[in-house]
Parts: sequence; structure tokens; C-alpha cells
Amino acid sequence: MKLEILNDYEALSARAAELVAGIVRAKPDAVLCLASGHTPIGLFKQLAALSKAGQIDLGHCKFIGLDEWVGIPPEEAGSCCYFLDVNLFKPLDIAADQCFFFNGMAKDLEDECRQMDAAIARLGGLDLMVVGIGMNGHIALNEPGTLWNLYSQVSDLDATTVQVGQKYFTKKTQLAKGLTLGLRHLREARLPLLLAAGEGKARIVKQALQGNPSEALPASIFQTLEQGVILLDRAAAAELK
Ligand code: PGA
Repeated sequence: MKLEILNDYEALSARAAELVAGIVRAKPDAVLCLASGHTPIGLFKQLAALSKAGQIDLGHCKFIGLDEWVGIPPEEAGSCCYFLDVNLFKPLDIAADQCFFFNGMAKDLEDECRQMDAAIARLGGLDLMVVGIGMNGHIALNEPGTLWNLYSQVSDLDATTVQVGQKYFTKKTQLAKGLTLGLRHLREARLPLLLAAGEGKARIVKQALQGNPSEALPASIFQTLEQGVILLDRAAAAELK
């Protein structure tokens, strides 16, 4: 893995955008998985600016949803789908047929996972998988204890995720399960990219990057990913030795 520490969130977002732009310029029909969550918002804004300036064309890319809350309809504020729609797809004029999402309302959740895996395989695999790190060390909705060799799966959310996840909703929302790409997708992605910013992430970043890699801490998988890149701002890197 390669670790880069940027001065601040702005610089981290610009560097992430540069990496995404490099991939898309080399492969205009790249298959991109971009996380929802607060960390990549700066990246999304930078991509929108590059697109507006004519410096990047995402019109031929495919976009894969990283994860979704089970029981939350895609059009509801708070769903990962809605979040990406508002913060990325609408500002960038990405068409619906470029996007593949988990449906959190699917009757057969296992089938939903197999369909996502099949879609990714059909598209030739992920060129980029951008993820954040949860306060409990999760990657997407792969919670502590998740096996590293799984593709998409239905996950049981842990207490931290249920509590932190409330930030996406305007009222208290019952969350118990998630649909998520698996850590095997991360291992097979051409560029697995982890972004972490802010002092709140410093402790878990240190555990993930300098503790023993273990399935108990999903983000520690990055220590084993040769092609992986980690971008931290100074605040998130503050506890690293
Ligand atoms: P955040 O979420 O970017 O909003 O901090 C990260 C995560 O939970 O994976």
C-alpha cells in the first residue's frame, strides 16, 4: 500500500480527484465505485469542477454503488443512492443507465448481492473503489469480523454504525442490516483508494494501519493490498508513528 499525507481536507480532495481523473483519462469507460459518506464530498466537488472546466468526461463511465441500508428506499433522503444522486450524479449529469445500485427494498437480499456481483463481473471488474473508514474500522458496510474473501453480502450492522448512520437521516431511523460490496471486491479492484480526514478518525486510522492486520478491523486489509492507496489529511494521520 502507498500512504500519502496531505495538508488538509482540501488538498486531500484535490489529490483524490487527480487520481480519479487519471483513471478516467486512461480509460474513458472506467468502472468506478465511489463511497457515499461525508469524507468524499470534497472529491465530488472537485470532480464536478473538473467536469465543468472540460478537463474530465465521465459520460462513458459506469458507477457502482458501494453499499445501501436495508429497508430504506432509493429515493428517500438518507439512502446511499439518494446521497450519491444529490452530491455526485446530478451535479455531474450522470445518466441513470450509467449507475448500478443495491436496492435496499429488494425482497431477496441474497439475490440482490449476486446480481451486483454479476454486474461488476460483466463490466470487467472495478477500476476504482473509493472507500472511507468508519469509526469502528468498517469499510463500506463490512463490519468488524467480516471475512476478507467475500463478494457482496448482507451485513448485520454493528451498534456504532447504527448510531453514526443516523447522521444521514432527518429523523431517528431504524437501521439493522446493510447491503455492501465485499472486501474481495476491494482486493480485486485495480485501485482501492481509502480516504480519511479529520481528528475524529486519527485513532482508528492508527489501529488500521499500524496494528496487526486482522478481520476484526476491516480497514486493516489495506496493509495487505499492494495496489492500495491511502490518502489522509494531517489531522487523521496525527497518531501515526
Ligand atoms: P464518513 O463515513 O465519510 O461520513 O466519515 C465513513 C464510513 O462510515 O465508512
